[in-house]
Amino acid sequence: MRIDIVTIFPEFFDVLDISLLGKARQAGLIDLSVHNLRDYTHDRHRTVDDTPYGGGAGMVMKPEPWGEAFDAILPEAQTNGVTEGSPLVIFPSPAGDVFTQKMARELAAEPHLAFGCGRYEGIDQRVFDDTATKSRVRLVSLGDYVLNGGEVAVMAMIEAIGRLIPGVVGNPASLVEESHEDGLLEYPSYTKPARWRGRDVPPVLMNGNHGLIAAWRHEQQLERTARVRPDLLPAANSKE
Ligand code: ADE
Repeated sequence: MRIDIVTIFPEFFDVLDISLLGKARQAGLIDLSVHNLRDYTHDRHRTVDDTPYGGGAGMVMKPEPWGEAFDAILPEAQTNGVTEGSPLVIFPSPAGDVFTQKMARELAAEPHLAFGCGRYEGIDQRVFDDTATKSRVRLVSLGDYVLNGGEVAVMAMIEAIGRLIPGVVGNPASLVEESHEDGLLEYPSYTKPARWRGRDVPPVLMNGNHGLIAAWRHEQQLERTARVRPDLLPAANSKE
């Protein structure tokens, strides 16, 4: 998968060199480029923001650097217009669709994602409208809270998406049994020692009966989901 990120803080993404995603990049499974929005400005101060028309607090990101950045990064979108095969441009925004495991799975199947990280009070609306004439565009929110900018949201999305790209996680079976994959929260896990600080591992996990273990884990998932996230149960039931 190819991933482009446009940001005024490229160094935020230095950590994508390490861990699982760093390995995936080295292995050629993820081709990731980070672009500094200020490289597409033309004034001495490399200005990316200005005061809002109509007044109000804060600054708004100017459209011109964004337009030039996407023209440079998505030259194919310039010539082909919006098609099924267009790159998908994602703008993290608290006003977007909420990011979920289901969305992560859909996005992991895309050949080319481009992320635009806004800052300040947001990006001039015409950037979204113009980009949407050339490529597919989606606003995506991490949740109902406000971050200072899109960088942390993009980092979270790339981590969730990247690990679903075939070959990135060594043992694909480990992806199947996690929280949210079957619509439920995951069951509690234990490892050695069998007794720690007076606490025993549940005996059912020690008896080698895989049917009993699977049933216990499923019960734990249902109990935990009902307690912590009852809102997930109707969708999870419809999957069973
Ligand atoms: N930018 C600011 N807040 C955000 C959020 N909740 N999700 C995604 N991007 C954001």
